[in-house]
Amino acid sequence: MSRIEEIEKRKTFGIVSHPDAGKTTLTEKLLLFGGAIQSAGAVKSNKIKKHATSDFMEIEKQRGISVATSVMAFEYRDKKINILDTPGHKDFAEDTYRTLTAVDSAIVVIDVAKGVEAQTEKLVGVCKMRDTPMIVFINKMDREGKDGFDLLDEIEVKLGLKVCPLSWPIGMGQRFQGVYNLYKKELVLFRAHGKQEEEAVLVINDLSDSLLDEKVGERAAEELRSEIEMITEVYPAFDQEKYLAGELSPVFVGSAINNFGVKEMLDCFVEIAPNPLPRFTEERKIDPFEDKFSGFIFKIHANIDPKHRDRIAFLRICSGTFKRNTNYYHVRQDKKMKFSNPTSFMAARKEVIDDAYPGDIVGLYDSGNFKIGDGLTEGEKLHFKGIPAFSPEQFRYVNNADPMKSKQLAKGIDQLMDEGVAQVFTKEVNNRKIIGTVGALQFEVIQYRLKHEYGASCEYEPVALHKAVWIQCGDAEALKEFRVKRKRDLAVDKDNKLVMLAESSWALNMAKENHPKVEFHLTSEYTAQI
Ligand code: G4P
Repeated sequence: MSRIEEIEKRKTFGIVSHPDAGKTTLTEKLLLFGGAIQSAGAVKSNKIKKHATSDFMEIEKQRGISVATSVMAFEYRDKKINILDTPGHKDFAEDTYRTLTAVDSAIVVIDVAKGVEAQTEKLVGVCKMRDTPMIVFINKMDREGKDGFDLLDEIEVKLGLKVCPLSWPIGMGQRFQGVYNLYKKELVLFRAHGKQEEEAVLVINDLSDSLLDEKVGERAAEELRSEIEMITEVYPAFDQEKYLAGELSPVFVGSAINNFGVKEMLDCFVEIAPNPLPRFTEERKIDPFEDKFSGFIFKIHANIDPKHRDRIAFLRICSGTFKRNTNYYHVRQDKKMKFSNPTSFMAARKEVIDDAYPGDIVGLYDSGNFKIGDGLTEGEKLHFKGIPAFSPEQFRYVNNADPMKSKQLAKGIDQLMDEGVAQVFTKEVNNRKIIGTVGALQFEVIQYRLKHEYGASCEYEPVALHKAVWIQCGDAEALKEFRVKRKRDLAVDKDNKLVMLAESSWALNMAKENHPKVEFHLTSEYTAQI
């Protein structure tokens, strides 16, 4: 197969959801369709268990196992599909954000009873920054939940997505009879735990067909007819260009656990989802079809289990062909490197690969050479964009608890931040360091790793902060005034970029009001102004 055919075959996406909406279950069903796993439960057993929050070593151990499910690949209808796992556990949200920089599209899973939840909002927000095309899957239709139209409204309002339903339920909970697939004009009748082959799929081009009444009963048939009429009147028709531009999100409904409605979505996904998309660097746009190889590191997995000390850097291939044992250029370090054991991830297995193509994710064993965002090329100096840092949600001052080991502490913090474990900000007024994380657990992880890997001790001190926002201002006078007035709140991130550490949303709003010429950004790359 030619390289071009290989690229056109690939679809790389992530599933985003709030914990418990059914992401793992859906992933598993998708893998079953692709034959990548043989039985349900294979992915689930690798999932970070939700009850383990109190014991971070336990979580880290589980995270070690879950590295095997970080990327799962399967083939379906001649396409090679790469699913990037976006851990839903609340303590790994920053990892999750960054993983979304390596996907070309996303599937958003929503629990029909719970509707749009907090983490879904955050993750969809990250996808929107890059106009990532999104498909919505409303899950758990076998349970009683919110009214379908109310839920669509909620998705539009809370997630800011323009939606277009492509499948619609007939009843829900006990009365759930199946879905009408608007994309294919098919009625798919529900059977709990049904194997897909056993599902009754009937082509119904015209909804006035009496076959519908026969199959679901007159009342449900009438209801469906009026709901579909409303959908066609109120919602836009599917338009692939708009979907690809991130402007329209098709909606599917189903029940992942019953493997119902999943195939309809997958069949549509392989038809409409984008192939590997171009990536952007400071220097230029990279087209996936270019001959020369390029890729970037979007995630680093360090195992704190002393028996498995290896780090794995996750490389997203952006152009050309990546080959094993070939010299590539590590742009930031300005040196050549080659990799003798690059691995691909096939469901629960890891395999050494000889070559990989745009859209693929390759795991590289790393002894500390990589930082998040690093680029590898065939020699061109390219600096990848679109891999920003996001505002942490929890902050603490970090103090040195062992003055004899200050060098080790500085080195340890530096390296852990490069790995993307958390972010460090240095206050301008007193040079004190503040660590910011998404989940509180990361503080313990950092303390533990500093001790065990660097021999350094640290202590934390509480600091009440709301957000870190990156500051930009083209007007030198306005910036100077801002710097003077807000001196107390200013810090720099690890790349020396100016950051305001806002104590509250009120303080942030005041700063915005008082300094209209200053731009406040929620990410380090200045894509999302607030
Ligand atoms: P997550 O990865 O998004 O966190 O969700 P996960 O797939 O683990 O699903 C969360 C819970 O919801 C699981 O139940 C799962 O069985 C259930 N679930 C998933 N899809 C459906 C569905 O379509 N209908 C219904 N009724 N339930 C669904 P659990 O009891 O928390 O875990 P388990 O004991 O089943 O593993």
